[in-house]
Amino acid sequence: MNTLDALNWRYAVRQFNNDTLSNAQINELAEATRLTASSYGLQPYRLLVISSKELREKLLPHAMGQNKVRDCSHLFVLAVKTNIDADYIDKHFTMAEQQQNLAPGALAGFASHVKDVMCSMTTEQLASWADNQAHIALGNLLTAAAITGVDACPMAGFDKAGFDEVLNLEAQQLSVSVICALGKRCDSDSSAEKPKVRIPAAEFVVEI
Ligand SMILES: Cc1cc2nc3c(=O)[nH]c(=O)nc-3n(C[C@H](O)[C@H](O)[C@H](O)COP(=O)(O)O)c2cc1C
Repeated sequence: MNTLDALNWRYAVRQFNNDTLSNAQINELAEATRLTASSYGLQPYRLLVISSKELREKLLPHAMGQNKVRDCSHLFVLAVKTNIDADYIDKHFTMAEQQQNLAPGALAGFASHVKDVMCSMTTEQLASWADNQAHIALGNLLTAAAITGVDACPMAGFDKAGFDEVLNLEAQQLSVSVICALGKRCDSDSSAEKPKVRIPAAEFVVEI
């Protein structure tokens, strides 16, 4: 499927059937999420892949009645790091030097600039920045899912504190940002029939 066909095919699925996605499908989507671009490359989030129905049953009371959290094949949870500090940034650039076969310290100047920028942010600004980065990963995930013929529903309608608690995220210096149910659409999902609602291109694209 070409990109625009895939983006027209996809929709936010409200009802999933009982099909389970293969490991290959899940791994490809996880990899597409990992390959997402991020500010300074810092990837201030992690991806939790939840296949366990039992665990998703525990999340359901915090999902604002959205049964698809339980009924989908897999639930992807994008959780932001809550410890974006000088140490995190140093570790990132040490990894970058190793992965790019550079001498230790070769990226120290850039790392210092990044630390100056990031460490001047308030806790709230850092949290908002990390949340924005996680949503870019969500967009990439949705497009990759569409292109590979996997159905998805992105979700922000859930209680973050409840999810953090059930998933024991505080201990891992993580906090849920956004989630995405993945699987196969149910034949009776009426949302599939509805035309897409989008601002017309002539109004959306502003040529200057
Ligand atoms: C960040 C984000 C959060 C969303 N949260 C929910 C949600 O909690 N529940 C839901 O059913 N749909 C949710 N949606 C789906 C949107 O309602 C849907 O993408 C939008 O109406 C456009 O329709 P389409 O995706 O079917 O083309 C969310 C979408 C995004 C991008």
